[in-house]
Amino acid sequence: MNDQGLYYADYLQLDRLLQAQQPESGKRGGAEAHDEMLFIITHQAYELWFKQILHELKSVLDLFASVPMDERKLGIIVARLERVVAIQKLINQQIGILETMTPLDFLDFRNELIPASGFQSAQFREIELRLGLRARLAPTAFSRLAADDRDRLQRIARETSLFEHIDAWLARTPFLEFEGFNFWESYRQAVAVMLETDRRSILGNPLLSSAETAQQLAELESTRRTFDRLFEPDGFRMLREQGVFQLSQASVLSALFINLYRDEPILHLPFRLLTHLMDLDEQLTAWRSGHALMVQRMLGGKIGTGGTSGHDYLRRTVEKKRIFADLYNLSTFLIPRSALPVLPSRLRRHLGFSFTGEPRV
Ligand code: HEM
Repeated sequence: MNDQGLYYADYLQLDRLLQAQQPESGKRGGAEAHDEMLFIITHQAYELWFKQILHELKSVLDLFASVPMDERKLGIIVARLERVVAIQKLINQQIGILETMTPLDFLDFRNELIPASGFQSAQFREIELRLGLRARLAPTAFSRLAADDRDRLQRIARETSLFEHIDAWLARTPFLEFEGFNFWESYRQAVAVMLETDRRSILGNPLLSSAETAQQLAELESTRRTFDRLFEPDGFRMLREQGVFQLSQASVLSALFINLYRDEPILHLPFRLLTHLMDLDEQLTAWRSGHALMVQRMLGGKIGTGGTSGHDYLRRTVEKKRIFADLYNLSTFLIPRSALPVLPSRLRRHLGFSFTGEPRV
């Protein structure tokens, strides 16, 4: 602060921030590697954005944690998740900047970094934990961290994650049974009608050979079995064992309802929330995949400075660490709007905004 009020550089603590780029190369008498500055700044920019992502995520978790959850807060939750996704899109592009460094330029300073690695990013692990990856983090995930980071992350691992909050929130979705109307019975009937129409069109298709007809009927039968699994406890258990779903059966069915009837006003925000969770998962997956490719470009088959197999380890995390893949797998069970059961008008009135009055049928 000076006598003219708050000063830009003081407010942002630029003296500390801009002093924090200290290349390792050149410290021990050798030449400083030109590209190490880019390497440091890129990582620092990531960590700053990780901090902002955690700021948003923690506030979303707090809003979900208030019991009973105030549904009026859903708009704030949706807006903050939208912001997280916007940040992810930006930081994913930073990979392209770092890739202007060639593998040979990287080798100019790589050995100076051992044993440090992005593998030790405590904020990245915290994001993974807060999103819901606790069960799928390898026991070694914290092994290279300093003891205080490890203790803190182990405490966070015991807190309720976004995935768990979403699971509980979805399971509470109202309206699935309403004054004698059971949505799932109507939906199953609609699916049966749809599959029967498909069966007739296969049988009536003069262009198919008998072998092709048999094959298409077998595929249709397999689709029918998949739909059945959604509703039967044993079948659903099978879907979980196959890794199709990690959410509870009640939550999966609610998410399906929200997707199918997302045009109803009361479901607009829940639908946007589910969409942002898919976007968030997609951006994180895109980062993992882009980062793994960058690592292959830089290191080929060399091991990482953090002690993993490098590209091979990272490539495997791409599919293994999906968080909201359930919401993607749900698309298997969507049916066309034209085939959807018509909701009773009293129920539609509940799903509308009160000032719209009687829905037009
Ligand atoms: C030249 C650029 C880079 C190379 C060669 C590289 C290399 C690696 C390697 C080999 C690993 C596996 C762990 C190990 O054995 O070290 C890893 C993990 C990781 N890196 Fe990078 N990295 C680069 C840039 C970045 C950047 C810019 C970030 C941003 C923060 C980052 C964040 C991470 C994270 C979070 C992990 C842990 C991933 C997980 O365990 O799922 N890396 N990196």
